[in-house]
Amino acid sequence: MIAAACALHGMAGAAQQPAAPAPAPASSLQVLHWWTSPSERKAANVLAARLAAEGVQWQDAAIPGGAGIGAGKVLKGRVLAGDAPEVTQIIGVSVAEWGEMGLLLELDNAAAADNWNSFLFPTVRNLIEYRKHTLAAPLGIHRVNTLFYNRALFARLKLAPPGTWNEFEAAAQRLLALGVQPLAQSSEPWQVATLFENLVLAESGPAFYRELFVRRSPQAAADPRTARALQRLRTVKGWARGALAERPWTEVVRRFARGEAGMMIMGDWAKAELNEHGMTQGGDYGCAGAPGSSQYHLYSVDTLSMFAGDYSHVQAQEKMARLLLAPSTQADFNVLKGGVPVRRDADPARMDSCARASWTLFGKGAAVQAPSMVHRMAVDEASRDAIIAEVHRYFIDDRAPVAVAQRRLAALFRLFNLTSQGAPGAQNTDRGR
Ligand code: GAL
Repeated sequence: MIAAACALHGMAGAAQQPAAPAPAPASSLQVLHWWTSPSERKAANVLAARLAAEGVQWQDAAIPGGAGIGAGKVLKGRVLAGDAPEVTQIIGVSVAEWGEMGLLLELDNAAAADNWNSFLFPTVRNLIEYRKHTLAAPLGIHRVNTLFYNRALFARLKLAPPGTWNEFEAAAQRLLALGVQPLAQSSEPWQVATLFENLVLAESGPAFYRELFVRRSPQAAADPRTARALQRLRTVKGWARGALAERPWTEVVRRFARGEAGMMIMGDWAKAELNEHGMTQGGDYGCAGAPGSSQYHLYSVDTLSMFAGDYSHVQAQEKMARLLLAPSTQADFNVLKGGVPVRRDADPARMDSCARASWTLFGKGAAVQAPSMVHRMAVDEASRDAIIAEVHRYFIDDRAPVAVAQRRLAALFRLFNLTSQGAPGAQNTDRGR
């Protein structure tokens, strides 16, 4: 729609003035993203430097806010105002949502030139394709079900990282007896919902997880497994011991880094931030699959899409897309970002043990993979926001009955299913089943 409006505008101008010379290929690209923490910045800077070496300037338009909550809103506002950036972080189902509007540049030439299909993980390929066109360039895969633990504290208590939620409870008791807060956790809605999706996965596995978060089945919402995950969410809340506030994720990481809490459950982007705090993996902290889900991969794939606009930036945009997938960019970016390359042929020697475990597990395919609802991998943005709000509402009110939260979720799902028949994103996640 916006593209059409711009085209009309351009035509009206052309009728009044002598034809302007064709614009020189633009060599500057504005990039909208939400990588604003020190480690995220470093990773983004690698991309900017690579791009500069190719003669393209990265004009930064970073919008703070974990999980891109703010960036998503700014992006919508800018596009509606006819001011779309040339490049933007759009991830998961949102790629198809924007694709449906016909505003994204098809990156088919770049994808064909380097034969992306030959090396991308199939799940990643599905996420960037819409109606047989490539609409995004993938950068890295994050594992959202990662448990971080303080190695010194665990050694002192002779504790092994908990493999199940019952073991987690036992470890939490021991930490508490030592006067240490067991879990670093924020009550920020997306972080609460992240904990919840971890609990659902641990309680049920990827098949049920998809019933709940991809198909949004009212029966799944009413299922005892959902009840148990909600119940567990309340128990785990107790382990944050009153130290709950709406902190940004970077602050949660800082508290864990200072030894103020013994454990933290967070996407592996936290690893990069811990390194910024001078903590070493295997030395100061360890990482493992979150309790009950070590055999599964709860994923979020970072991708950049390009707005077609008047097509004057195509050359630079295609150049950038190809650069983002180059093996060395993938390796260098992901070491700094905490994720892993989207390439099946990546070099495991460039990965730490945590990353290698994530990459190897992801490679086992859809049977072990679960798309993060919070990070837009499972449902459209509006559904995601509504589910997060519902889970948060339950979390903050200790008297809210589990059964009521289930009924409210089921009611939401019925509504979504009425309104989203044939919605753009559904096919992308369902193919991953
Ligand atoms: C995710 C994104 C990560 C990281 C995280 C925290 O959505 O995939 O790259 O930025 O949010 O904001």
